This record gives sequence, C-alpha cells and structure tokens, in this order.
Amino acid sequence: MSQPIIIDTDPGQDDAIALLLAAASPELELLGITAVAGNVPLALTARNARLVMELAGRRDVPVCAGADTPLNGVPLVTAEHVHGDNGLNGVELPEPTLPLDPRHAVDFIVQTLREREAGTVTLCPLGPLTNIALALRQAPDIAPRIKRIVLMGGGFFEGGNITPAAEFNIYVDPQAAHEVFTSGVPITMAPLDVTHEALTTAARIARIRALGSRVGTAVAAWMEFFERYDEEKYGQDGGPLHDPCVIAWLLAPALFTGRDCNVRIETHSELTRGMTVIDWWAVTGLPANAHVLRHVDADGFFALLTERLARL
Ligand code: BDR
Ligand code: CA
Repeated sequence: MSQPIIIDTDPGQDDAIALLLAAASPELELLGITAVAGNVPLALTARNARLVMELAGRRDVPVCAGADTPLNGVPLVTAEHVHGDNGLNGVELPEPTLPLDPRHAVDFIVQTLREREAGTVTLCPLGPLTNIALALRQAPDIAPRIKRIVLMGGGFFEGGNITPAAEFNIYVDPQAAHEVFTSGVPITMAPLDVTHEALTTAARIARIRALGSRVGTAVAAWMEFFERYDEEKYGQDGGPLHDPCVIAWLLAPALFTGRDCNVRIETHSELTRGMTVIDWWAVTGLPANAHVLRHVDADGFFALLTERLARL
C-alpha cells in the first residue's frame, strides 16, 4: 500500500529533484504539493512546482500556493545567489499550463488531514516551515492526525550554510520551525550533517544525463547549475543534494543512520538566529522530539534516484 504524502516546497533545483523522485515512486501517494516562499518568492515557487509536475507528467497532483512571507512579519530572505533568478536556472523549460489549485496551501493541508484517516498522512517540508506552522496554528486538531513530518532543515556538526550557525530553511522562518518542533508531531529531520554526504559528483551526474530522457537532461543540468556555488564554497566535486534525502528516507530508510534527539530552535539571538540546537549526546535530559539523520549511503541514494528518474 502506498504512503500518502503532501510535499511543502520552495523549488529550488533540489526541491524539483525531490518532487520528481516522489512523482516517480509508486510507494508514495502524492496528495498535493504546497508552495511556500523561500529560495525565491512565492509566485516563482508556485510556478516552479507546477512546471516540475508537468515535466513529471503528473498533472493529476494539485499544486496550491501558501505563505508569501515568514511568520510575525519577519522579512523574507531568498537564495537567488544559489538557485538563480527564477529558482530553477540551468535549463529552459516551457511555462506551465497546469493551473494553480484555488485553495490556499494552509487550507489544503488542514482539509486533507481532516478528510484522511488519522495517522496516515506524512508531511514533507522542503523549505521554510511557514505553511506547516500556520496549519498547526489554524487547526490544532490536525497535530495528532499527522503521521510524521519528514523535513529538510538545520545542521549541527556541519554548522550552517546561510550564516555560520543556521541552515537556510530554518533561518528564513525560525518561529515557524520552533512551533513545528514543539508541536508534538513525530519528526524526522534531514540536516546538513546528512545532506552534505549526498554529493552530486561528476560521475553521478553523468549517469543521470545518460538516461537520455527529458527528465534526465533537465536533472543533470539543474545539478550542474546548483552545485557550482557549493563546489566553490566547499572546494569539492559536487554539491549536496539536500531535499531528495527526505523522499529517499521514506522510500529506503535503511540508506540512512541517525538517532532520536531533543532539538530546539534559536529564535531570539541575532548572532545564531535559526540555529538548530541538537542534543546529540543527550546532555540536557530533555525528551527527544526528532529523529535526526546523520549519515547516508550516498552511492545507494544516487542509485535509487537514478533508477526512479529513469521511470519518468
Ligand atoms: C535548503 O535550502 C534550500 O536552498 C534548498 O532547497 C534546501 O531546502 C538547504 O539549506
Ligand atoms: Ca528547498
């Protein structure tokens, strides 16, 4: 039986590849895609999500637009310096014709969780946690109905990537992250500590390009565009392919190792805003609120991704 999921996303090349991986995987029932402002503003993330679903041949999946700014009037920080001016630079694809679903993303999340059997739907946030926190604020009754939140965000041993202390998704909306991590919903967290092992090396990209399909060509071009910034920053072959780790964990959790930890979010300090304080060594005595992924079998991960992309 396939697992029902909602992907909340801010595409972003790595988000796009996560969407394709999910769209290609029969183990997952893609109930809908909700867009949030993050890598680029909301109008572009909503456009990009539709463009990717069209590329995947999945016009059946509703795409809803959500929050265009973080909670509490915090100004939006974007990442065009990484993803390009439209968020999906690297390849030219036709403008999507798939219409945006008229429902607000937050209403879609609440409605879907109330309609579906409790404890069955997994939320997969790949961007700032604004839509998820708004859904929990608007409808606290949904919290016990969520099977699990599997998110990309944070970093501890690897530090941050937008500031020395903070990873981008959590930095953009730390208040939303705080509300999600204190919601009581089971969480699996894919921080930079694990995604920095999933590197888009030249050999891995070549295998995807060799698929020879429209999807393979687009994904290879996206990886090459997206990695240039991190290759220069970290001085290595390949950049981290962050967001597909979330989908890969759902499909093949044995590729990953991690442990249950207490995780708290810094919301006040100017210096460390958005830091994810992971109690890896259990020194606080605070209860675990997240399963924190630490390592991935990167060859296994790319083999899975490549095999799934070949299906599209
Ligand atoms: C995260 O931020 C975005 O740039 C990526 O899409 C990913 O979700 C990595 O820090
Ligand atoms: Ca993202």
